Amino acid sequence: MTTTATPSAHQDHATDAVRRALALLERARQHTLAIIAPLSDEDVSRQHDPLMSPILWDLGHIAAFEKLWLLQNLDGPIEFSEMPGTYNPFEHPRATRGALPLPTLAGQREELARVRRAVMSRLGSETFSASDPLLRDAYVVRMVAQHERQHQETILQTLQLKQGEPYAAPRAFLLPRGSAPRVEGAMVRFPGGRVRIGTDDRGEAYDNERPAHEIELAPFDIDVTPVTNGAYREFVDNGGYDIRQYWSDAGWAWRTESGVRAPKHWAQDGKAQWMTRSMDHVERIDPLLPVCHVCFYEAEAFAQSVGKRLPTEQEWEAAATWDAARGVKLLYPWGDEPLAPELANVDQLSFGTAQVNAYSRNVSPIGCYGMIGDVWEWTSTDFRGYPAFEAFPYPEYSEVFFGTDYKVLRGGSWATSADVARATFRNWDYPIRRQIFAGFRCARNV
Ligand code: AVJ
Ligand code: FE
Repeated sequence: MTTTATPSAHQDHATDAVRRALALLERARQHTLAIIAPLSDEDVSRQHDPLMSPILWDLGHIAAFEKLWLLQNLDGPIEFSEMPGTYNPFEHPRATRGALPLPTLAGQREELARVRRAVMSRLGSETFSASDPLLRDAYVVRMVAQHERQHQETILQTLQLKQGEPYAAPRAFLLPRGSAPRVEGAMVRFPGGRVRIGTDDRGEAYDNERPAHEIELAPFDIDVTPVTNGAYREFVDNGGYDIRQYWSDAGWAWRTESGVRAPKHWAQDGKAQWMTRSMDHVERIDPLLPVCHVCFYEAEAFAQSVGKRLPTEQEWEAAATWDAARGVKLLYPWGDEPLAPELANVDQLSFGTAQVNAYSRNVSPIGCYGMIGDVWEWTSTDFRGYPAFEAFPYPEYSEVFFGTDYKVLRGGSWATSADVARATFRNWDYPIRRQIFAGFRCARNV
C-alpha cells in the first residue's frame, strides 16, 4: 500500500452521501425512461388535458432544471431559479404549453442524455463544500433527482387522462392483496400532547418541511385506513352529492357548477354497476381499494356525511409518526427502516392502488394503516410556511404558493417516488383538483 493522506471520517461520510445522491439521479432517469417507453410521438406531443403539459414539455423541463442547477448554478451566484424560455413554468401556464414549439421525442431523449453526461462529468470534479448548504452532502443533486421524480408523477397524471388509446402501463409486479385485519371505517385515538412537526434535515427535505417545531395537539380520533371505494360508494348511492348540508359553501358551488356526481374515472355500466379505469385496466370498483381522484370538497363532504372531518396536516403527521410512548418522532409510520417495496405501495411501477389492508407493516404507532403510499391524503390545512420558514434554495418551489389557495396533501401515492414519499413531505393543490392520485381519511374531535 502506498502512504497517502487518510481521508477524515467527515470526508468519507460526505463521499458516501454524494455517491448515494448520484445513484438517486441515475434511478430517477431509469424510471423516466420506463414510464415513457410505451409512448408514441403522438402520445407525447399532444396536450391531453388543459390541466397538464404535453409530456414533451415535462421531459424538456426536467433536462432544463437539471442543467440549471447542476451546471449553471453550481458555482453560484444563482442567477435564475427557473430557466427563462420554453421550460419556465411561470412564463408558460400549463394550458398554453400545447401551443409551444417542442422538439420530437427522440430530440428530448437526446437532450436528457446530453445534459446528464455533462452533469456527470462536471460532478466528478465537484468537492461538494460542506460550508455551502446547497452542496453539502450533495443536497442539490437530491433536489434535482426529486424534481425529476415529481415530474414523473405529473406525467402519470397526464397518462391517466390520456386521449385516444389508453396507456399500456408497463406494470413491473402484481400488488399484494389484503392481508392485515380488515379495519375500514374504524378509528384510533391520538392522545394529544406536545408533538414535533416537520424536520431540520438539510440532506433531502424541501424548505417547506423545515424547521422542526413543537406544537400542542388536542386528542382526536382518526381513521385506521383511507376511506375505501366501498364506503365512498355508499355516500354516492345515498345521494351524498345532492345533500346540501354535507357540503361547505365553496364545496357546494363547485359541486353545482361542475355537475360532478362521483369520483373522476368512475362510470356506471348498463347494469348500474360502478366501473373505474386505471390506465388501461377497466374494472368494477374494488370496495377495498382506497377511493382515488376525489377533490378536497368531495373529501370534506364525505367526512361531514359520517359525522367526521378532515385531519389537519399536523394531526396527520402526528398520527403517522409520533411515538407517544417514547416521545419521539419516527421517520416513517413503521419506524426508521427506509422505505422499500415490501413496506408500502410507492415508486410508480405498480401503476395502481392496493387494497387498504394489503401492507401489514405500513402501520403507525397508534395503528393507522397506509399513511405512506397508494393515495395522497387531503388535509384541512392551507399551504403555508412553518413558523420561521426560510426559502431555500429558491422561493419559487414553495413560498410563492403559500396562502389560502392551496390545500396540503400528505403521504404520497403509488405514483410518488420512494425518494419523495417521506412523512414530512408536503404536497399541495387547489381544492377542486381531481387529476391527482388523491384520497383521504377522516378525523373527529373527542
Ligand atoms: C409539489 C407537486 C405541487 O408539480 O407543482 C415540480 C412539484 N415543483 N416542479 C408541482 C414541482 C417544481 C410541485 N408539487
Ligand atoms: Fe418542475
